[in-house]
Amino acid sequence: MVEWNKRHLLDVEELTKEEIQQVLDTAKSFKEVSSRDVKKVPALRGKTVVMLFFEPSTRTRTSFELAAKRLSADTINIAVSSSSMSKGETILDTARNVEAMNVDAIVVRHGSSGVPQILANNLKSSIINAGDGCRSHPTQALLDMFTIKEKLGKLEGIKVGIVGDIMHSRVARSNVVGLTKMGVEVTVCGPSTLIPFGIEKLGAKVCYSVEEVIKRSDVLMLLRIQKERQKENYFPSIREYAMEFGVNAERLKKGKKELLIMHPGPMNRGIEISSDVADGPQSLILEQVTNGVAVRMAVLYLALGAKE
Ligand code: CP
Repeated sequence: MVEWNKRHLLDVEELTKEEIQQVLDTAKSFKEVSSRDVKKVPALRGKTVVMLFFEPSTRTRTSFELAAKRLSADTINIAVSSSSMSKGETILDTARNVEAMNVDAIVVRHGSSGVPQILANNLKSSIINAGDGCRSHPTQALLDMFTIKEKLGKLEGIKVGIVGDIMHSRVARSNVVGLTKMGVEVTVCGPSTLIPFGIEKLGAKVCYSVEEVIKRSDVLMLLRIQKERQKENYFPSIREYAMEFGVNAERLKKGKKELLIMHPGPMNRGIEISSDVADGPQSLILEQVTNGVAVRMAVLYLALGAKE
């Protein structure tokens, strides 16, 4: 075990291979807590964790809150739309006022890249990035790594294909950075207009044929088209995207029998993934969600423990 010396979690880029391994090992030890009758350990008793979400979320927000509660921390959800930000208060002033109530960690999601970094630069609390713009979603990448390792026993040497809107996906970027650090071979795939220039520099291979990626992968990660972040049309229509890149049971036959299917959610059934694939025996989608709680317990535990 390396000594954990990080107060914040802003990006997987800032984590070493050993630190990623430590998060995964800590998550493994916490996973069992969620299957107990009394789903609680006293690890963060007396700590307060605030959720500050400027974008919608089902999985990340709920699992951070459950993670904090299962570690016995107190939790507060700030409803941004009914907060004083609607009267013109800045994000930083809001966060400073929240911190003045002696909270220990702020879990933040924002549509603009860099907001968690600004909070970390200006506050004493632990800042945990729950997704910022198109840039980073570190706990999603950590839970994805945890899920692959739990299923396949290792990360080194595994081949992962990531298919979809790579350009606008913070999940894709964080996974490319994190998985390649752990020795995984990552191939990204999608319309050429949605593959960011220079992604190879982060360690990913690029392939424009979904069939090729299906054939060569051990794990296939499917991403939705992020219409809300696109400023122009990157392909002719959703129907054509689904025909060219959507994964259904027929297409899946081209891959290994044991090919695993992942999706960070939310899914758009019938576009990037068909229901028979999403709900089929190769799908790990709900296991990813289950593991999200354990991984976020590990992240909160390490970040808040490190301050003392
Ligand atoms: N994967 C993910 O970030 O899901 P939510 O937007 O529901 O949190």
